[in-house]
Amino acid sequence: MISVLIILLIATNIITIYLLNRKEIKKYFAKSFIKPVNLEKVNKIFESEKISENLYGPKKDVIVKSFCVPSGQDIVGKTSDYEAWILSSLSKISKNIFEFGTCSGKTTTLMALNSPNDSKIITLTLDSNQAKNLSSDSQDNKVSIRNIINESNYNKFIFSGKEYEEKISVMFMDSKKLNADEYLNKFDLIFIDGGHTYSIIENDSIKAFKMIKAGGIILWHDYVPGKTSDKDVVKYLNKISKYKKIFHIENTSLCYFNNI
Ligand SMILES: C[S@@+](CC[C@H](N)C(=O)[O-])C[C@H]1O[C@@H](n2cnc3c(N)ncnc32)[C@H](O)[C@@H]1O
Repeated sequence: MISVLIILLIATNIITIYLLNRKEIKKYFAKSFIKPVNLEKVNKIFESEKISENLYGPKKDVIVKSFCVPSGQDIVGKTSDYEAWILSSLSKISKNIFEFGTCSGKTTTLMALNSPNDSKIITLTLDSNQAKNLSSDSQDNKVSIRNIINESNYNKFIFSGKEYEEKISVMFMDSKKLNADEYLNKFDLIFIDGGHTYSIIENDSIKAFKMIKAGGIILWHDYVPGKTSDKDVVKYLNKISKYKKIFHIENTSLCYFNNI
């Protein structure tokens, strides 16, 4: 009888520990095939400058314009501050930018604020009807399908009505219908942060590889092994990293491909 009680107690403890630390445990067992690299490897602009014997700081190339969404007025589907800074810095050296996934327009706004004056940005998004009627494949992650519907609820954006809006073209269009042949080798920077299902991430990536200019960079958001809603992003990127030079930027959920 006592031994049964002890076994029950141990089992209850194991289950409690698992439930409390589910995310951490999943992360530990999750497969990350992609090599994490230091940000300085992405581009020379991120190399730091020596200020004194014990102090290093950013070069002027990575001093950016930024903003915060007011506390309590949170928006869905956004980047961390560190990721937003990386994207802003790369925008400074990008004249033609393409974004899969506008949502509130937070990242589009950062691209517009930081890119050269004559830059052009195309950003793709869905309205709520398009999102509800989106076609999907049987292998597509159901949580990601639900997220697409939650994130497709904006028809005005953070940049709407601002003077830098003239740099931006918003296209309400399913990226599966985008004709990449119209944009061959055109973009310096492509940010893939649209639908996170397998069929969409595959579609967007294949098109991005056609649309990226020589010397340009493709960034993917949400490479988080072990996170349910990012499962398909991780699965697809792990697969193509076997034959494409894709790296994971340390301390971020960003992966990148340099078209060199
Ligand atoms: C994660 S949010 C983008 C967040 C944004 N980049 C930011 O950080 O501020 C995803 C966006 O992708 C769009 N989206 C999802 N699936 C799409 C598809 N198949 N075609 C075009 N846009 C899509 C959604 O409508 C939503 O605007």
